[in-house]
Amino acid sequence: MPQSASNQAHEMGDAKVRVPLGPRSYDVVIAGNLLQRAGEYIAPILRKKRVAIVTDENVAKLHLETLHHSLSKQDIEFTTIVLPVGEKTKSLSHFGDLLDQLLAAKITRDECLIAFGGGVIGDITGFAASTLRRGVDFVQIPTTLLSQVDSSVGGKTGINSPHGKNLIGAFYQPKLVLADVSLLDTLPQRDVLAGYAEVVKYGLLGDFLFFEWLEENGHAVVTGDTAARIQAVKVSVKAKADIVAEDEHEQGVRALLNLGHTFGHALEAETGYGSNLVHGEGVAIGMLMAMMLSSKMGHIDGQDCTRVTTHFSHVGMMAQLPAINGLNWCSDTLLSHMYQDKKVDQGKLTFILMKSIGNAFVTQNVEKQDILDVLDQFTNHTNKE
Ligand SMILES: NC(=O)c1ccc[n+]([C@@H]2O[C@H](COP(=O)([O-])OP(=O)(O)OC[C@H]3O[C@@H](n4cnc5c(N)ncnc54)[C@H](O)[C@@H]3O)[C@@H](O)[C@H]2O)c1
Ligand SMILES: [Zn+2]
Repeated sequence: MPQSASNQAHEMGDAKVRVPLGPRSYDVVIAGNLLQRAGEYIAPILRKKRVAIVTDENVAKLHLETLHHSLSKQDIEFTTIVLPVGEKTKSLSHFGDLLDQLLAAKITRDECLIAFGGGVIGDITGFAASTLRRGVDFVQIPTTLLSQVDSSVGGKTGINSPHGKNLIGAFYQPKLVLADVSLLDTLPQRDVLAGYAEVVKYGLLGDFLFFEWLEENGHAVVTGDTAARIQAVKVSVKAKADIVAEDEHEQGVRALLNLGHTFGHALEAETGYGSNLVHGEGVAIGMLMAMMLSSKMGHIDGQDCTRVTTHFSHVGMMAQLPAINGLNWCSDTLLSHMYQDKKVDQGKLTFILMKSIGNAFVTQNVEKQDILDVLDQFTNHTNKE
């Protein structure tokens, strides 16, 4: 009988978190220097010893050889598809090309895709897996902090449309996730901090003790301490797994994971979804905005807001809107972006607000003027500089 990833993780001393979804359950294994052992984890779950690796140019240059070597050691055959770097790769045209390449490589129904990269590669590869020959297995090997703590877990896959981000996609769970924190050693610091925003998010939305732990250890997490990184990824993945297990298709509690995202998506839309402001930076500022809104509406104590802002500064996260050449931040424009978001329900914006650190809730009961006042605090601050 093939050994399960759980038993293997136990034998190898690796941390693992189970995502319990009945027949779609899977393990997330979290460790340092895990890529070298990826083949050992992947071999037992394969129906045929042949896989297609999908990756991007940056990850290919840095880490592909290690993955190839690890698969070869287990006699797993592979074909590799290297996509361009960046959010623009999550498009219909790249998606079509990817499917064509997978078919040209004669990937059959009982073979498996490996998404080897950040959230962009995970999202497009997962979606390809959901549609190729009506569905093939896939494994996530996330290589950014954001993808290790967030996008590789939970089964949301997809691509962007000119009408907006992530509008085309599917819920499709991987068979296994291998999060190797050593891969983060090559990640630019800006991407580390962007991913860290999603780590703090789990503390803010539901786990005060984790936030306290991050106040002590967040600096070690962002500067590269392996043990601290393993712990931060493990707690984050567990938090996400618990929420996804309760609400796989986002009918209710999964919405809490959008803390900071109603504001954040508006900031991303205004800056063009590019390198001026990456997703995690938008989320970081968005969480502070959500907290200010909570404070303005009398839900949270101002001292909690100061405490979180202090933590952001302590680890070097963005806590204000950045000054961007040629862009004058405008509260009304940001508000109109919010109303264009796909999650607007009958003209009502949904917000995740906070009662205290570690206690968030979902509401549509927010006055437009309060939103504008919060936006003004941030836009005025940056425009004045
Ligand atoms: N599916 C979900 O639930 C979910 C959740 C959150 C975000 N997302 C999506 O994730 C995407 C953002 O993910 P991301 O921040 O990982 O972006 P990304 O995939 O673009 O990676 C960021 C950058 O890091 C580089 N990179 C990746 N791994 C590296 C490594 N180990 N060393 C050096 N460089 C490396 C990439 O080439 C890229 O330039 C967005 O498209 C977002 O919509 C999806
Ligand atoms: Zn996010």
